[in-house]
Amino acid sequence: MERLIIKGGTRLEGTIPVSGCKNAVLPIAVAAAILGDGVSVLHNVPNLTDVRTLRAVLEGLGATIKLKDSTLYIEPINHLEYEAPYDLVRKMRASIYVLGPLVAKLGKAKVSFPGGCAIGPRPIDLHIRGLEHLGAEVTVEKGYIYAQAERLVGTEMYLTGQYGPSVGATANIMMAATLSQGTTVIRGAACEPHISDLARFLNTMGADIEGIGTSVLTIRGVKQLRGTEYTVISDDIEAGTFIVAGAITRGDVYVKGITPQQIPAISEKIVEAGVELDWDDKGVRVTTPREIKGIDISTAPFPGFPTDMQAQIMGMLCLASGTSIINENVHTDRFIHTAELNRMGADITVDGGKAIINGVPNLSGAPVMASDLRAGAVLVAAGMAASGETVLSRVYHLDRGYESIEKKLNNVGANITRVKD
Ligand code: EPZ
Repeated sequence: MERLIIKGGTRLEGTIPVSGCKNAVLPIAVAAAILGDGVSVLHNVPNLTDVRTLRAVLEGLGATIKLKDSTLYIEPINHLEYEAPYDLVRKMRASIYVLGPLVAKLGKAKVSFPGGCAIGPRPIDLHIRGLEHLGAEVTVEKGYIYAQAERLVGTEMYLTGQYGPSVGATANIMMAATLSQGTTVIRGAACEPHISDLARFLNTMGADIEGIGTSVLTIRGVKQLRGTEYTVISDDIEAGTFIVAGAITRGDVYVKGITPQQIPAISEKIVEAGVELDWDDKGVRVTTPREIKGIDISTAPFPGFPTDMQAQIMGMLCLASGTSIINENVHTDRFIHTAELNRMGADITVDGGKAIINGVPNLSGAPVMASDLRAGAVLVAAGMAASGETVLSRVYHLDRGYESIEKKLNNVGANITRVKD
């Protein structure tokens, strides 16, 4: 296992480049490998553990995939392997994205039931319900999902659950609908930037999707999808993480490769807290001339404040001059990082889905543990702002979603060393 040793009291200054979007490249690679009839080339692919895990899942299904620098070359599956095994699916929940495309392409799929994780139970009832709406027969046995259909048939459906729209279910069903007979209308669809990027990618393969960026997606089924070449959007959550890192260290950083349209709520809330954002056509300069103010945040599906930024902004609000309240409305257990922040001297109380953060004058370094990739991110940011040394364990969580995070941060003045246990 590896750890990061973070020397505190560093002020970040300089340019931090944003990599390609993890949550876009995962479903896009699935679509290229299963739905396409020809080779696809994806640019701006981040070098992440999750991308390597997905590559193993897709190669297990018969695809041939090469990753060179930040380009993925994907030759689609060409035989009837239709099982995504437990030992791979358990490593990454997004493996569930193969379910819909396999049924649409091969008429059947056997996918291990994805487990829960540190942030909540992570059910997939909406994925299953959506496939049943398209006419698939779905059963769950001995930890595996079995789905089959002679031919999927388009229909209208409402795909929002008790916690709002589902990114994963929207991706799964939209991909399956591209090769279904007739027209599918998904109401209550997720409209995160990575869902729009997936829809645009599918259309470059020859799909016929309308309503991109809205909560009503209309997908007219086509006979086949061709290979294509595509550049994946930049990662909104990585960009938001670097904006917080600049603010929490009261630095002066330029986050390069992001647009305000990708992070409307993050920008709004960061500015409300007193941080200055100066946008140009390539990115944003982050400065913190005044005290950080306490603010209230409720996480919500896009364009609301993303749950994947909840931990990071909480870290910044630990050093605010007032009290903040964060309501986590998307994932039921996403406050595990509060205990680690409190070990660093923060003053956070959790009451059900709400966290109350009383700002403190400073944080002090401590040995802490990452429980998921965004919790890891906030502990790196807090460690840079704290006095003394922070040792972060379970760094593998971070590597799932952040491409060489310590290199990018050390380039702008951080002092982070990766050590093997
Ligand atoms: C995606 O997960 C992201 N992962 C998550 O990012 C992100 O937190 C989440 O969307 C919300 O934005 C990827 O894109 C790979 P959901 P997903 O289905 O698709 C409930 C990160 O940090 N739900 O939108 O699994 C679910 O329990 C990761 O990069 C059902 O009830 O999330 C949750 O409360 C962590 N039934 C809510 O909906 C279902 O069938 C939103 O989940 C599916 C989901």
